[in-house]
Amino acid sequence: MRKIVVLSGSPRRNGNSEKLADAFIRGAESAGHQVKKMSVIDYPVKGCLGCDYCMRNNGECIQKDGMQAIFEELYQADMVVFATPVYYWNMTSQLKAVVDRLYASIAKPLPITSSALLASLGGNVQEDGKLTVDNYNIITNYMKLKDEGVIIADKVMNKNEIDGNPILEEAEMLGRSLK
Ligand SMILES: Cc1cc2nc3c(=O)[nH]c(=O)nc-3n(C[C@H](O)[C@H](O)[C@H](O)COP(=O)(O)O)c2cc1C
Repeated sequence: MRKIVVLSGSPRRNGNSEKLADAFIRGAESAGHQVKKMSVIDYPVKGCLGCDYCMRNNGECIQKDGMQAIFEELYQADMVVFATPVYYWNMTSQLKAVVDRLYASIAKPLPITSSALLASLGGNVQEDGKLTVDNYNIITNYMKLKDEGVIIADKVMNKNEIDGNPILEEAEMLGRSLK
């Protein structure tokens, strides 16, 4: 049984990327994995201050916000999933703030060993998704996480546009296929 934290980076509740996340979660739960979804709307996180307080205090951040609850889950997880819309060729700033705050985990390493990316975007995957995937790869490589899968829903701009898209089944299958 895997313990998975899904970080949902859209400020738009029930939008395209959250529906990808929910499909993934359905699959993972049906395979017996334990999943916690945390949305940037419910756990607002400020940007890292770069003060290095965490380095002197065993990974504790000086800022008190949604990140403490996110860290609490991440310290019990073995997989993290980044679900995000593409905003200006990258993850949303809200989710990037969470990633930046993972800096504190250099001082207190996380037990997480693998990751996945679920992203939605209005344009097409080659032109508009590339930097998001590159950024995911470089961040997870730095964190020494094994990639379990990347699923990108392109050409979905408006809120419910992903409904009925077979990519939702792909996301569900990814969750279900986790060992
Ligand atoms: C601020 C903003 C920036 C965006 N930037 C891009 C972009 O660079 N490339 C793209 O293809 N789509 C872009 N989009 C479209 C979103 O990626 C697309 O609507 C996505 O499916 C929204 O996901 P959500 O419903 O989960 O919020 C942008 C949308 C917004 C609101």
